[in-house]
Amino acid sequence: MTTFTGRGHGKLILSGEHAVVYGHPALAVAVDRGAEVSLRRIDGPTRTCAETLCDVRLTEALKAALEPTGWEVSVKSDLPIGRGMGSSAAIAVGLVRAQAAAAGETLDLQTVWERAFAAERAFHGTPSGLDQAVACRGGMLRYLKGPPPIFVDLPCPDQAIVVLDSGEAGDTAQLVAGVRARRPGIDPVLDAIGELVLRVEAALPDPAAVGPLLTENHALLQQIGVSNPMLDGLVQLALDHGAWGAKLAGAGGGGVVIALTAEPESLVEVARAHGVDAFVCQTMPGTTVP
Ligand code: MEV
Repeated sequence: MTTFTGRGHGKLILSGEHAVVYGHPALAVAVDRGAEVSLRRIDGPTRTCAETLCDVRLTEALKAALEPTGWEVSVKSDLPIGRGMGSSAAIAVGLVRAQAAAAGETLDLQTVWERAFAAERAFHGTPSGLDQAVACRGGMLRYLKGPPPIFVDLPCPDQAIVVLDSGEAGDTAQLVAGVRARRPGIDPVLDAIGELVLRVEAALPDPAAVGPLLTENHALLQQIGVSNPMLDGLVQLALDHGAWGAKLAGAGGGGVVIALTAEPESLVEVARAHGVDAFVCQTMPGTTVP
């Protein structure tokens, strides 16, 4: 029986999370992890392959995006769920592409983004569209929320990024709502994040220069209330072991910390010795294939 498959990239936000929801630019990069969604025609009600998904809301969102009968959907993903690595956006993009393959459609990147954005709304409430943008385009991207959204593909340095997993999932919708509730008091901090994004972009070819800006970004994310002692501790761990800089990446409240360092493997070893699940991600150049 024919299987229709689509993929989406995982991502890491270098700078600009949360501020991007309020019209500031953000900088994010695709990594060598992602999600693959497969669709197979079946008789009877649409179902998901249980072993591939452990997130109930995600399973429901996938089912909601499909016709009520006739499909079996399965997901292979090496992105931790709810950790700020864009797992749900990668799945949404994978699903859109698998559906297009099943319908014999060829989609351009803009259409993939639009359809995945609609699916993500069901999952996250009020996403900026950044995660879907990287999930479908790959590469390094400066993103400005619309309408219309502005996507600027930037040169993608071949860069190792150390990911330190807090082991806890953050609830993006709740964290975004929390930031919204703290406005307008925190608006100057959101403005400062927006300005920092442009400094990070200017420093991009030199990870040793980007690092301290990431640490600065983390301090601003603390001020808007989305970090926690675990994430602060992981940033400190990275800095104590020679990283150029580190920050939480994604919505916060859990999720992951990213670090730039000259010695990625040794930072991973140190983190593991501290009982932290850590791994190295490699940046992925952009795709022109829809
Ligand atoms: C989540 O990966 C990034 C946030 O800025 C939310 C969004 O952009 O939709 C926190």
